[in-house]
Parts: sequence; C-alpha cells; structure tokens
Amino acid sequence: MEISRTLFIPVILGTARMGRMSLHAARLVTEELSKRNGVETDLIDIAKLPLPTNDAGEAIKDLDFSSKISNADAVVIVSPEYNHGYPGLLKHVLDSCLKEYIHKAVGIVGVSAGPFGGVRVIQNLLPVMRELGLVTIFWDVNFSNVQKTFSAKGDLLDESYIRRIDKFLKELIWMAKTLRHGREQISLD
Ligand SMILES: Cc1cc2nc3c(=O)[nH]c(=O)nc-3n(C[C@H](O)[C@H](O)[C@H](O)COP(=O)(O)O)c2cc1C
Repeated sequence: MEISRTLFIPVILGTARMGRMSLHAARLVTEELSKRNGVETDLIDIAKLPLPTNDAGEAIKDLDFSSKISNADAVVIVSPEYNHGYPGLLKHVLDSCLKEYIHKAVGIVGVSAGPFGGVRVIQNLLPVMRELGLVTIFWDVNFSNVQKTFSAKGDLLDESYIRRIDKFLKELIWMAKTLRHGREQISLD
C-alpha cells in the first residue's frame, strides 16, 4: 500500500559549535524517529559538511547533502537559539539547496539555555522554511534550560520530552505522508 512505504526523514543538527548541547537533542530525536515502523532516518551534522564560505546558495551544493534532501519526505531541523536567531552556518547549509525541499514537511526543534526552548529561533526560521518550499507543521519541540535537560554525557534527565517528541513526530509523519501523496499524485496544473 502507498501509505505504508518507508519514509525517509533525516535530522539536521544546526550548529557546529564545540560543546554544542543541541547534539544531545538531535541524537534523541533521531533515536525516537528510528524506533518508528516505516521510517528511516539519518543524523546530518552540519559541522561535517564541506561547504566553502566564499560563495553561497546552489553554487556550493554538497552532493551528499543534496541527495539526502532529495530523497527525504520530511526533515527535522534541530537549531539552537543564538541571540534569538538561527546559527549562520545552518542558514548557509540550508541555502545550498532549493528544489530538493519543495512540498516536503519540516518540523523544528528549538534548543536554548534559557527558559523559552528556542521559541524565538523557531519563529525566525518559519519564513525561511516557507521561502525554501518546505511545509511547516504546527508542533515544535522546545528544549529549554538544556543544560539541565541532558547530563554532560547526553543522557535525557527529563522523560516528559519523550511524550512531546512523540506528538511532534506523529504530526510530522502524517504531513510527510500527505505531501508525498500530493507530490506523486496531484498535478500543479
Ligand atoms: C552566540 C550565542 C548566542 C546565544 N544566544 C542565546 C539566546 O538568545 N537565548 C538563549 O536562550 N540562549 C542563547 N545562547 C545559549 C544557547 O542556547 C546554549 O548554548 C544552548 O546550549 C544551545 O546551543 P548549543 O547547541 O550551541 O549548546 C547562545 C549561545 C551562543 C553561543
């Protein structure tokens, strides 16, 4: 059946900062995604993408990143909040693709040291998602006070996040299936 075909939903870790706590959040979401039947995932670490910084946009496309996004039905972006915005490197990476994103679902996970769980970075990412052709869902995950949410080793200290991630992923998977159906079955003309 169409609806039970495997979905590919990679997780993009949106910072290259040494000692980044967002790594723990990205690993957790990837692990929860990988437990779901019918979903394949992959953790894309932007620190490992060899993108030059003396040019921008599709001119610096990385073939591996581009092919993962092309094959994706949805993506999860895990972004820390840096001065209420997103890391410049995350934007640089996202800008390197365009048609690869169109009519695919995106869910955003905000990570912050402060109490608001990255709500401001999520709000700032929304217009970028729209311009890329991604379709946002109406759930986010907000890791607030992240230093208290994970141990230094990366163990989750607050189990309530599992329930929140579950709700978020259910919605993302629904949107991913719906949009795949649309991409494959419904013409724009
Ligand atoms: C340049 C910079 C700006 C930051 N700005 C904010 C901020 O606006 N709000 C906030 O709650 N935390 C802010 N933080 C703290 C991060 O949210 C914190 O480091 C958290 O662990 C997530 O980022 P990380 O994945 O880099 O660790 C900032 C950190 C850096 C490095």
